[in-house]
Amino acid sequence: MEKKRILSGMRPTGRLHLGNLHGALANWVDIQNSGTYDCFYFVADWHALTSDYKDTDLIKAYSLDMVVDWLSVGLDPAKSVLFVQSEVKEHAELYLILSMITPLSWLERNPTYKEMQEELSNKDIGTFGFLGYPVLQAADIIMYKAYGVPVGVDQLPHVELTREIARRFNFLYKEIFPIPEPLLAEVPKLLGLDGRKMSKSYDNSIYLRDRGDVLRQKISSMFTDPQRMRKTDPGRPEVCNAFAFHNIYSPSSEIDEISDACRTAAIGCVECKKRLAERIADGMASTHERQDYYLNHLGDVKDIMDDGVQRASKIARLTMEQVREATKI
Ligand code: TRP
Ligand code: SF4
Repeated sequence: MEKKRILSGMRPTGRLHLGNLHGALANWVDIQNSGTYDCFYFVADWHALTSDYKDTDLIKAYSLDMVVDWLSVGLDPAKSVLFVQSEVKEHAELYLILSMITPLSWLERNPTYKEMQEELSNKDIGTFGFLGYPVLQAADIIMYKAYGVPVGVDQLPHVELTREIARRFNFLYKEIFPIPEPLLAEVPKLLGLDGRKMSKSYDNSIYLRDRGDVLRQKISSMFTDPQRMRKTDPGRPEVCNAFAFHNIYSPSSEIDEISDACRTAAIGCVECKKRLAERIADGMASTHERQDYYLNHLGDVKDIMDDGVQRASKIARLTMEQVREATKI
């Protein structure tokens, strides 16, 4: 019996950080390990072009770096299909066909589109490709007849548009596509070292590649409860970013102990973050082990991606046969 399919993608941003891990990747790994689904995870390199078309030098290197990090956190090519979008040309063909049936108004009212235009005002993204971003995403998703799409809340409008586009195709031509469900995971609220959203561009990230002194140094610089000026002031773990990390990386007895000690000023932030650094280092040990392996065997990583392309292409070819038949093209 074939399992239901899961599909998700990430733009190649290079090395991943703990925000990426706990915001998305960990969910991908959990879904993979549940054994309930056939999982397809891909590098959305064409999507990277929509905003970075002027500067494409790093896209390939970033894709490889990102897949190394995927493998290091436990995405497993024996369980999931890992591939690069631009290697499966069918995505482009389906994108073209879907672009014909997608009303412009659906794209123009997409909230992510408006937000991104403001956010990326330094880049010239008044392009056809940028407006069509969600159409390409719809093609990615329905190509594999995905049942579920694990995404963050920011991607919900895109999945909603995908559902509308799939319905429209089914209505105009033939019922080929199941309507995909967004799969939202509970994500812990983790911020960057400076208390802003963890982001590569803010230089406030803990990377999956950070270890040893770099890791310890970064954690010691993490913002804590801003009202706790002196060690003798009682602290508020519920507003402290370091505590949010303890919540993930420390055992529950220690979490309770630290929470009490913080409120009674029995522990200082320096000591608290030292303990956190050890917990995070321990928690990342197996990730670092796999990372060492794959960084020393980049040929393996490329083979994994080639194999993923083969496996994804098989399905994409079948879907496109049906699409051509349905559209009589
Ligand atoms: N837009 C997604 C992001 O920025 C990446 C993406 C591209 C994607 N195609 C997808 C995610 C298909 C899920 C399904 O993160
Ligand atoms: Fe945060 Fe720990 Fe300092 Fe409390 S003691 S404010 S939990 S870093």
